[in-house]
Amino acid sequence: MKKMLDLVVTQNDKLNQNYCLIKLTTPDSSPLPSMFPGQFVEVKVDSSPSTYLRRPISVNYVDKATNELWLLVQVIGDGTQKMSEYKQGDIVNLLLPLGNTFTIPSKDSGQELLLIGGGVGTAPMLYLGACLKEKGFTPMFLLGARSKNDLLQLDDFRQYGEVYCTTEDGSFGEKGYVTDHSVLKNTKFSSIYTCGPKPMMMAVAKYANVNKINCEVSLENVMACGFGACLCCVEKTREGNICVCTDGPVFNIEKLTWID
Ligand SMILES: Cc1cc2nc3c(=O)[nH]c(=O)nc-3n(C[C@H](O)[C@H](O)[C@H](O)COP(=O)(O)OP(=O)(O)OC[C@H]3O[C@@H](n4cnc5c(N)ncnc54)[C@H](O)[C@@H]3O)c2cc1C
Ligand code: FES
Repeated sequence: MKKMLDLVVTQNDKLNQNYCLIKLTTPDSSPLPSMFPGQFVEVKVDSSPSTYLRRPISVNYVDKATNELWLLVQVIGDGTQKMSEYKQGDIVNLLLPLGNTFTIPSKDSGQELLLIGGGVGTAPMLYLGACLKEKGFTPMFLLGARSKNDLLQLDDFRQYGEVYCTTEDGSFGEKGYVTDHSVLKNTKFSSIYTCGPKPMMMAVAKYANVNKINCEVSLENVMACGFGACLCCVEKTREGNICVCTDGPVFNIEKLTWID
């Protein structure tokens, strides 16, 4: 069940010019609510007119040992800029956890799991990888970025499985887009999970459909309320228009119109 909570910032590390990793915990050491991979939080930034609406941010990781929630934030506009300026000890109001979750497969539905993240879409893939590992799977990760400097948290990902990378400028991993990577030609995957820019996810969905691979995508439609009231996150699906914030953000590609 979703809750509105004040959490305290324990750490805010600048990972590069555009990204920061914010760690938050409860002020009274009470356990964080249960959160599942694919879910997101709505962050109340402050009361200035440009950041009046909460900003949706994926659950990047939940560190049960330290009772910390991690948020990987890419600075885009005022809201994310303000988040990047959070200091240790700041109190942040969050609505959490929101949305549905990626499906953890059953053991007999296949073991070859590929998690594809592009840009800030790598954020939910870390927690998904951690949860899959906890369930006995060894997922593979395929992470795409413009250049080496934008590939983040690689050592964290490597704790849960093999990591493959592409960069558009060829500065790390294979040059090109994630869908060009040789691992897609060399391995027959049973499931693919993906989050990133829409054109990337559509290309992944097409690849999965042609190759008859089960595939879930996490949509990052622009959101305001985060709980089904404002209708600004609507996506057309085979079952009609749905709200990404409540019916998603995770969808099996069979439900979307992308592969029609
Ligand atoms: C379910 C979900 C999970 C997300 N997870 C993360 C995450 O883990 N880390 C992260 O950094 N960001 C994430 N985002 C995107 C993040 O919510 C937006 O970047 C943020 O709201 C922008 O706020 P802002 O005030 O900085 O920029 P604004 O001033 O609100 O917007 C600046 C520009 O970015 C555009 N924009 C705003 N929201 C989005 C969006 N969702 N997608 C594309 N363009 C947008 C606006 O149209 C505008 O042009 C997620 C979005 C969704 C819906
Ligand atoms: S964000 Fe308001 S209905 Fe989805």
